[in-house]
Amino acid sequence: MDQIEPLFPIPLMRCPGLLDAALVEAAVEAIGNARIEKNLRSEQLFHTEIADPRSDELFRRMSDLAIPKLVDFGALLFGERLEWMVKEMWTNVLEPGGSQALHSHANSFASGVFYLTSSHPGSHTAFVRPPGGFEFNFRHHTRSAAMGPFNAGKYVVPEAEPGDLILFPSYLYHEVPKNQGGVRVTVAFNAIPDRLDCWGYQIKFAP
Ligand SMILES: [Fe+2]
Repeated sequence: MDQIEPLFPIPLMRCPGLLDAALVEAAVEAIGNARIEKNLRSEQLFHTEIADPRSDELFRRMSDLAIPKLVDFGALLFGERLEWMVKEMWTNVLEPGGSQALHSHANSFASGVFYLTSSHPGSHTAFVRPPGGFEFNFRHHTRSAAMGPFNAGKYVVPEAEPGDLILFPSYLYHEVPKNQGGVRVTVAFNAIPDRLDCWGYQIKFAP
């Protein structure tokens, strides 16, 4: 039987319903008391200050739920169940009409997004195929062309309900298209393993 091997794929992990309704509600409520900063590139996008989850009770609870998922996800990235740490978390508030420009997360290996509200289907997080790869500079993108992991230029998270988590490698560029729905609230974070080891030469990461 013929077989197709997906040679060098990029993992993205979806964890539906990781936060219970009470935690989602508490996290949304907490934003009312938080210090908010405006995004430099969108007038309708606001962030809370970046916080260490160990210094914030709600972030710590969310981070504790994310850690086992990071261990699973990290095993795909590095081939071993390492100790992971969420080193920073922040809240994004995207008002109607706002968008988040294409970006990736520096100084981090895995990043995640908790969804605290539902999103308009047109405003789900979209990930783009890493540019500058060793691929054809030709495309066959037509209305009739079937898109799949080998030819698509973009992956849009298909569902994002309150309490859901997604994890992705921090280098992967992503954006949020113009918000066509109500206020959209997410909590994002960056995570690192405690160490990486290449044949005995170790790099260790500490808070
Ligand atoms: Fe991001």
